[in-house]
Amino acid sequence: MSSEPSEPGSNTSATSGYTQGHSAAVVASHASRTVNNSAAFLLPHLKPDFTLLDLGCGPGTITRGFCSYIPRGRVIGIDAAESVIEQAQAFSSASTKTEYPNLSFQVGDITAALPFADGSIDVVYTSQTILHIPAPVAVMKEAHRVLKPGGMLAMRETDSMVWHPTNSGMDAYWAALGKAVPPGAQGMGTGRRLHVWAKEAGFSAAKMQVGTGGMCYAAPDLSRWWADVHVQRLRGDVGKKWVEDLKLVRDQNEIDEMVAGLKAWGDNEEAWYAALQGELICWK
Ligand SMILES: C[S@@+](CC[C@H](N)C(=O)[O-])C[C@H]1O[C@@H](n2cnc3c(N)ncnc32)[C@H](O)[C@@H]1O
Repeated sequence: MSSEPSEPGSNTSATSGYTQGHSAAVVASHASRTVNNSAAFLLPHLKPDFTLLDLGCGPGTITRGFCSYIPRGRVIGIDAAESVIEQAQAFSSASTKTEYPNLSFQVGDITAALPFADGSIDVVYTSQTILHIPAPVAVMKEAHRVLKPGGMLAMRETDSMVWHPTNSGMDAYWAALGKAVPPGAQGMGTGRRLHVWAKEAGFSAAKMQVGTGGMCYAAPDLSRWWADVHVQRLRGDVGKKWVEDLKLVRDQNEIDEMVAGLKAWGDNEEAWYAALQGELICWK
């Protein structure tokens, strides 16, 4: 079974709001991301003295991982949510801070002007951020402005998900999750459009590396962990929001059916889930 991409939104508004929130269950899945599983396509291009911006950095596990590749440079994580920036700073233990004095995190809205001078940055990176933004081209234009000539915009964004075996609760959950993005944001189907938006933003097709990556969670342990992460989301703020604010589901019964479906899938000895990621590097 697979989730279907939604039709492209109007992508005209420059406002956004992350609809998942930053509860422990949401941050748990973000914190499982590392440079190895989420930025391997970019690592060979990094140089020790680069300045790198991670837009929509979340809890900053990927951001921090860049530091060992950029020991003499600067790594800056930016996120709109104060609470998640506090977590990113807290995750940076005293020893990490000593090891990586050039790592910093700041609160900021990446749909507004970035607080950096023209041509001052070597790498702008995003992971699972563009899919939540109603105006991706505006963000990419701003990345283009702050990049040095020869600098890179590197993005890894989900396109679609597939899983086995299937059941109605599991199908309903992933269909609803794909729609849980701010109005106008692309959500599912973002990975396949990154190169299109980058061209609109001023990057040249001749200077792009267009590729894909993936993420797989299979039985027994990873499928149970992955199911549990999403069950906890549904039982917490996310489920409440889907019923009360976003009206993505009719009532609590639908949430309960999704929880049962996720658990049954997670415990199934054949369980397998994969997400296809668009991976794009654009050189300025
Ligand atoms: C799915 S999380 C990805 C976090 C991290 N990049 C990762 O891959 O684990 C998306 C993040 O983008 C942030 N975000 C969404 N809209 C934003 C905006 N306009 N400005 C800054 N951050 C934003 C959210 O707060 C959230 O932490």
